[in-house]
Amino acid sequence: MRHLLDIKDLSRKEIEAILERAMRYKSLKNYPETLRGKFVLTAFFEPSTRTKVSFQKAALNLGAHVVDFAPESSSLQKGETDLDTILTLNMMSFDCLVIRIRRNGAPAEFAKYVDCAVVNAGDGTNEHPTQALLDAMTMLEHFGTLKLKVAIVGDIVHSRVARSLTELLNKFDAEVRMVGPEGFVPESFEGVSLITHSLEEALHDVDVVYALRIQKERLEQSYSNIDDFFRTLQINSRTIQIAPRHAVLMHPGPFNRNVEVSDDVVYSERSKILEQVKNGVFVRMAVLEYAMGVTEFEGVRSVETSLARR
Ligand code: NCD
Repeated sequence: MRHLLDIKDLSRKEIEAILERAMRYKSLKNYPETLRGKFVLTAFFEPSTRTKVSFQKAALNLGAHVVDFAPESSSLQKGETDLDTILTLNMMSFDCLVIRIRRNGAPAEFAKYVDCAVVNAGDGTNEHPTQALLDAMTMLEHFGTLKLKVAIVGDIVHSRVARSLTELLNKFDAEVRMVGPEGFVPESFEGVSLITHSLEEALHDVDVVYALRIQKERLEQSYSNIDDFFRTLQINSRTIQIAPRHAVLMHPGPFNRNVEVSDDVVYSERSKILEQVKNGVFVRMAVLEYAMGVTEFEGVRSVETSLARR
């Protein structure tokens, strides 16, 4: 049993092994029941479409049982704390808790108390490790390497996706740049080569344009024209041309059409957005196995075996 709380938890070799396993799963028609008899609990205290459903689908693909905890109809509404909720659910014997929560660091805190593996599905502005893994898989499939130039565009200071992705790409010697409006890019960020407000400066020679949604739910002050403010950095059929022709467009979703990305590029040929969603299931299959300590089975190498082989 192992927790996956942030990208720092994973070595470069472990990431390679997870991606290799995920890509192998993508090539299969039927999956082995490596999680048969295991119980996975999904507890999403913040909204989610793709992350929650893909974790559930990943667990079911490998033969696990899935229970979904729904905060909005739970005793949280009667004033129970999130920690007491988790301690209560822990007594019902799960093998893995997949959790999304608004408070930075809460999954790591809960991991100290529960008897099962904890997988962080996004905590506040902190980390979203499985998003970074599925993004890496999508880049690796397309380019055959992660030694890429990647420009992350939009609301970066509030983005757990940007943090996890930068952390992962740094392990693979990629060059990461950050572009956003004033107040929405950090002053400095470890391992980032350029922080700018200019799309021209950041995109002219990139391989990946990675757009982000404004995290309105995390803004401390309210802005009357926030969407217009972000439209100056919109990725659309004009601005995407700043990037070389080979560059692809990515976005973790959900996107706000015609705010950070326009209708005419969102599902264009250069867009990998739906492929990211597809890859999310395979990456999460590999991550659930990693968390629950699944080892060898026919035809698919385990994380441990892959490591030993390198
Ligand atoms: C992201 C998240 O929740 O951090 N979404 C996702 O998991 N695909 C990004 C976002 O909400 O903007």
